[in-house]
Amino acid sequence: MTAEIINGKEIAAKKRLEIAEEVQKLKSEGVTPGLSVILVGNNDASKTYVKSKQKTCEELGMYSLLITMPEEVSEVELLAKIEELNADPSIHGILVQLPLPKHIDETRVIESISPLKDVDGFHPINIGRMMTGQNAFLPCTPYGILVLLEETGVQLEGKHVVVVGRSNIVGKPVGQLLLNKNATVTYCHSKTKDLSVHTRQADILIAAVGIPNFIKADHVKEGAVVIDVGINRNEAGKLCGDVAFDEVSEKAGYITPVPKGVGPMTITMLMYNTLKSASESIGGF
Ligand code: GUN
Repeated sequence: MTAEIINGKEIAAKKRLEIAEEVQKLKSEGVTPGLSVILVGNNDASKTYVKSKQKTCEELGMYSLLITMPEEVSEVELLAKIEELNADPSIHGILVQLPLPKHIDETRVIESISPLKDVDGFHPINIGRMMTGQNAFLPCTPYGILVLLEETGVQLEGKHVVVVGRSNIVGKPVGQLLLNKNATVTYCHSKTKDLSVHTRQADILIAAVGIPNFIKADHVKEGAVVIDVGINRNEAGKLCGDVAFDEVSEKAGYITPVPKGVGPMTITMLMYNTLKSASESIGGF
């Protein structure tokens, strides 16, 4: 079997058009969705991500407010800025780019963001609401994966999903979102014994481990849907995922490439969450 490629770039572009249309509708009602991104320090990867978020915001007609703070900024100053943004009616989404410098307590910072503006979906209130199936901001990468899966038309109910990786940002929440869709979910991680015994059971296999080409054809059941969340560099410095694409795509039914798979969906869902927040500020969709 040669897998059908799930084109994240194309699906993201389609979603962005829909979001841009909704932004125009909200603007005609006098509300411009506003996203503030706070960037602390000089991490090059973070700078690139933040630039991309700002650019997308502007392309979709939203207001983007970038706040940069030096590496040495105190936690108190950062918390004061978040407090100010929590109270600012022109800002519907607040995102503090992670990682933060070591002297700042990340948990305290995340918990200081109003859950109503937590468009990353990282606040414990949004995580709890997601777990209990209530209205919540869903974390962007897991949400993007859900949209990709829905776009394939593959039914989720009753499917066996195996998630490899248990990070708070991707692994844990993506399993929860698919559980909410009535899938049967197995989590595997670095301490799992006989990994391939589990992964070979997967109708849908989600790789979120951060190790280049970790998932091989032997880990995959014939015809499975394979979602690759990895963004790694191989020994040659080339961008690659957690899945050995060439061999796995010979066996899977569907597969996401890297790049142009899950990646473009993350920012798209951030934009969606900002739109949702702005819309909810005047009563909801
Ligand atoms: N750093 C890497 N990914 C993310 C993300 O999705 N949100 C935030 N806030 N920081 C990140």
